[in-house]
Amino acid sequence: MNILAVESSCDETSVAIVKDGKEVLSHIVLSQIDIHKVFGGVVPEIASRNHVIHMTRVFDQAIKDSKLSIDEIDLVAVTQGPGLIGSLLVGINAATAFAFANGKKIIGVNHLIGHIYAANIEHTIEFPAIALLVSGGHTELLYLKDHMDFKMLGTTLDDAVGEAYDKVARTLGLDYPGGPIIDKLSLLGKDTYNLPRAYLEKDSLNFSFSGLKSSVINIVHNANQKNEEIRVNDMCASFQASVLDVLVDKTKLACQKLDVKQVIIAGGVAANKGLRARIKEEIKDKEILIPDMKYCTDNAAMIGAAAYYQYQKQGAHPNYLLGGLSTIA
Ligand code: KG4
Ligand code: ZN
Repeated sequence: MNILAVESSCDETSVAIVKDGKEVLSHIVLSQIDIHKVFGGVVPEIASRNHVIHMTRVFDQAIKDSKLSIDEIDLVAVTQGPGLIGSLLVGINAATAFAFANGKKIIGVNHLIGHIYAANIEHTIEFPAIALLVSGGHTELLYLKDHMDFKMLGTTLDDAVGEAYDKVARTLGLDYPGGPIIDKLSLLGKDTYNLPRAYLEKDSLNFSFSGLKSSVINIVHNANQKNEEIRVNDMCASFQASVLDVLVDKTKLACQKLDVKQVIIAGGVAANKGLRARIKEEIKDKEILIPDMKYCTDNAAMIGAAAYYQYQKQGAHPNYLLGGLSTIA
């Protein structure tokens, strides 16, 4: 089954064609990072306008690269949420129009489920499994019982981990997105700032990163007032150590509570080299599945991968429409 998948929930305009949920026949990801960098974060209005400008071209290229004819596309899948509403609408309208014009079935895919299925492109998820989903908008621990049968074990009570990375980077005068930069600089510094780790109540699988973020902001603010220098590399190392301690310890705790075969790390923050290394070092008795870097941050291939299994279980929408705005989660 050849699925044409569309992702536009934030600032990546992406279309992919994926065969049987695994074989990526074509994959175009057009990042808007350079446009949003100057603002220190994604500006929703600008993101949607850029999706409008580029979407048709990205569609066209993905179809050409796949070497398939339009007749050979069996299903259209599109991210239906969560995400920025204006950005989502561009992808949903493009996908719906394509499906309508070519008489294809269409399904809406949850963006977070897409991130998890990124791990199923080059590896194979075996159930039951635990997934740590860490991105710019989400921080969740999930129990995966079977395809499309997931239970939330814990979530962030405030900031998402990627959001904390980006805000701390901005406070330190670093570029957007801050995650990869902090990840890199942390290798050059030492964990000397003694930042807090929020474990919350005993046995909790929830997360909290706003206290950690505020600690960095306060230290930087106080240093500025006293005209003192911040040791940026040490601050990056301290912040990353604090984040990783909590992410890794809570994932280990979830593994103690539930008998699973695999641990999946997914979402943009799964590109973090420190996290990838520490999870593998500290969880030795489970198989660790981490998507390739290119499938960690937002992309349409993961939506095509998830859509295949979703379609087996739930089928497609009864008509070309996705059911209107109510389907946007
Ligand atoms: O999954 P994603 O592309 O978009 C959302 O669905 O949110 O994740 C983007 C987030 C950003 O906050 C970015 O700073 C973070 O992922 N990120 C990283 C790394 N690469 C991207 N965070 C930490 N370390 C990295 N290497
Ligand atoms: Zn994402």
